[in-house]
Amino acid sequence: MAAEGRLAGRRVLVTGASGIGLAVARRCLDEGARVFVADRDAGRVDALRAELPDVVGAAGDLADEADAGDVVQRALAALGGLDVLVNVAGLSGRRYGDGPVHEATPAGWDAVMRNNARSTFLVCHFALPPMLAQRRGAIVNTSSVLASAPNASHFATHAYAASKGAIDALTRSMAAFYARDGVRVNAVAPGLIATPMSARAQGDPAIVAYLRERQPLTGAPGEPGDVADAILYLASDEARFVTGTVLEVAGGWSVAG
Ligand SMILES: NC(=O)c1ccc[n+]([C@@H]2O[C@H](COP(=O)([O-])OP(=O)(O)OC[C@H]3O[C@@H](n4cnc5c(N)ncnc54)[C@H](O)[C@@H]3O)[C@@H](O)[C@H]2O)c1
Repeated sequence: MAAEGRLAGRRVLVTGASGIGLAVARRCLDEGARVFVADRDAGRVDALRAELPDVVGAAGDLADEADAGDVVQRALAALGGLDVLVNVAGLSGRRYGDGPVHEATPAGWDAVMRNNARSTFLVCHFALPPMLAQRRGAIVNTSSVLASAPNASHFATHAYAASKGAIDALTRSMAAFYARDGVRVNAVAPGLIATPMSARAQGDPAIVAYLRERQPLTGAPGEPGDVADAILYLASDEARFVTGTVLEVAGGWSVAG
């Protein structure tokens, strides 16, 4: 474990053990943090721990109240407290029935809101008391560019966009409420990032062509590390004067439209 770094000695809970969550866990370890990772997929937790043996992990459905409470308690016990919470866990709901509103199913809406918005709320709910008690904490949530800069042709998943809009509003309201308590709350809004979640999009020639225009900095999907670097900044003391922001990490998405 690194004795020094931008998160030296900080106790970090990361939700989501794949893609962006894996990159966040790696960056946090490299910067001297102690890291606990949770994912509902036990195989993904095990795979992450095989790669990063210093990370402690647990499986749990973070949209389930009992599981979310249990995961936070286990993280507190393993780390001896909590300084940073990074909410990355989430899903894209096309296969559950998300889509344009007239075609999306109520079950698809519920699945996406549950796994994206409800899980973020629940983990914050259980992680805040210890942060408030020590009057210090940093929370980073994961939104999406699709919350504020939609695309009708390639990314018409309206429940997903709404779930990320809920996360943006939650982030700002929490930031306002907890600022006087020393707890900062921010979010990142990634564009298309090369992770398992975006495999379908990465393999679609029309989307690949679209990204050349919409993410003009590279003309390609971002890397999980691009998002992890932004999260690391928001989690660290370098952002001590920053709260309530949703930081776009998307290669120019919202200015390229
Ligand atoms: N990849 C992209 O292009 C992209 C773009 C914008 C936003 N995002 C967001 O980034 C986050 C991470 O996505 P990723 O690309 O790393 O995807 P990923 O599928 O690789 O990782 C997401 C992880 O979250 C876990 N998860 C989902 N619901 C859960 C729940 N209820 N409880 C516990 N774990 C749960 C999954 O099992 C999975 O391992 C998501 O919130 C996603 O919406 C991704």
